[in-house]
Amino acid sequence: MKREDIDRIFQQLEELKCKTQKEVEEARVRFLGKKGEVTALFEEFRTVDREQKAEFGRSLNELKQKVQAKIEELKSSAVETGASDGPRQDLSMPGDSYELGSRHPVSIVRQEIVNIFRKFGYDVAEGPEIEDDYHVFEALNFPPNHPARDMQDTFFVSAGHLNPLLLRTHTSSVQVRTMEKMDVPIRVICPGRVFRNEAISARAHCIFHQVEGLYIDEGVTFADLKQAILLFAREMFGSDTQIRMRPSYFPFTEPSAEVDVSCNICHGKGCNICKGTGWLEILGCGMVDPNVLEASGIDSKKYSGFAFGMGLERIAMLKWRVNDLRHYFENDLRFLHEFESAPEI
Ligand code: DAH
Repeated sequence: MKREDIDRIFQQLEELKCKTQKEVEEARVRFLGKKGEVTALFEEFRTVDREQKAEFGRSLNELKQKVQAKIEELKSSAVETGASDGPRQDLSMPGDSYELGSRHPVSIVRQEIVNIFRKFGYDVAEGPEIEDDYHVFEALNFPPNHPARDMQDTFFVSAGHLNPLLLRTHTSSVQVRTMEKMDVPIRVICPGRVFRNEAISARAHCIFHQVEGLYIDEGVTFADLKQAILLFAREMFGSDTQIRMRPSYFPFTEPSAEVDVSCNICHGKGCNICKGTGWLEILGCGMVDPNVLEASGIDSKKYSGFAFGMGLERIAMLKWRVNDLRHYFENDLRFLHEFESAPEI
């Protein structure tokens, strides 16, 4: 090995110029390829005398690094190769645009409800979608042979044993989890997905969304419930909205009621949305049954409370008059884009 061989390549590097990527690649092969000049020098290095190894070794390494750096530098400045290697890029072309998505109508309604109840001082609580029988049914005072506990109505994850796992059929289960965790006074709303074993049609789906509400303190009465629902309905559907309550039954509330709001489309005159009645059903509610309070360790002699639950798809249907539930789950962009201009909330 001679000093000049190394110096010669240093010299060549100084003068090396490449216009195209193709030329850069050729230069790389010429120096660093299997039969390249630098590679050959490394081969030769094996035969160098011991005393000279240190000096030549240092120079060779320096040379190799310099070649690599030069190749990188040329690579970044060289243009793409000519016509034979494909079309040149026209950097003045406009870029691909990324379309902005829009919020789903169910998310819009959920956020609106959360915002209204936040103003009233409610916190948001969440719970698991895969629940156990205890939190979905037993702690909520469902009798052992209630139809909701049947395979026909509920999706079971594991059946058979004492407290089977299942997909929650309502967000009332989050009431129970909240009562177990939090101290009274409790004021929460619990939005979430629920699951029921239903055939899918325009009016029923096996997945939908609910918002549950729970308020427990000393001296809470049915009048408080009525006022909370009235204020909510007016915030949600307009300040001239009226409500009416009809007696109903839920295992976890006593007394229980269903709430209708005055139809904000025909203003009570009767139309096909309210089926000529002037009223639209929006939620179920009632005073929390003392059995439910006691099951979660709350003294029902000292405390009382109310609860309510509503379906988000139902509220969205009333708000935007989309009367086929399936639209909410198909994610057809033509449908979703309809909500692009929904107000920012
Ligand atoms: N969990 C009921 C349902 O899924 C809705 C409901 C009714 C919730 C009354 C409540 C309530 O908290 O008090 O149909």
